[in-house]
Amino acid sequence: MSTIARIGIVTVSDRASRGEYEDRGGPALIEYFKEVLTSAWEPESVIIPDERPLVDETLRQLADEKGCCLIVTTGGTGPSPRDITPEATEAVCEKMMPGFGELMRQESLKAVPTAILSRQTAGIRGGSLIINLPGQPKAIKECLDAVMPAIPYCIDLIEGPFLTTDPDRIVAFRPKKKS
Ligand code: MTE
Repeated sequence: MSTIARIGIVTVSDRASRGEYEDRGGPALIEYFKEVLTSAWEPESVIIPDERPLVDETLRQLADEKGCCLIVTTGGTGPSPRDITPEATEAVCEKMMPGFGELMRQESLKAVPTAILSRQTAGIRGGSLIINLPGQPKAIKECLDAVMPAIPYCIDLIEGPFLTTDPDRIVAFRPKKKS
């Protein structure tokens, strides 16, 4: 019997949380996982303002209480005073996974020079992999295409559910089992 993977989708945006504009990041993330994942999953979506205690608490709840094996944030990774998503991520994670941010910036720089402005990172809290993405739907796709191949194996290593992907979209990397 396979477990349904729960994926936390966190839009961090003052304006989207006040309803001043439509959240485009959250729906783009859901569309992305619908397109790429072939194993069962369900989203746990939230829209919150760029407030440190609230972002910290939301990430903790999604990891510890909702049991999300993967939590993706969108927005709040830039240099503006209100951008605090990477700090919240670092505060709640036991272990940082800097390779995710490095690869996402490296790939994003091929598309836009402003990619250098994203401080996006990733880390592990208990059984959850938390990954920051920028706010723009185009940026979400560019960044996830870069790191998605590594996500299923990373989740195996933290003893989460076995995620599978559509190989026509993303070929997940898993080392061969030693016999
Ligand atoms: N990365 C990709 N792949 N594509 C983009 O369009 N936009 C950049 C950057 N990373 C972008 C990107 C811009 S303009 C900013 S300010 C930073 O992400 C931070 O965005 P955020 O504050 O929405 O998180």
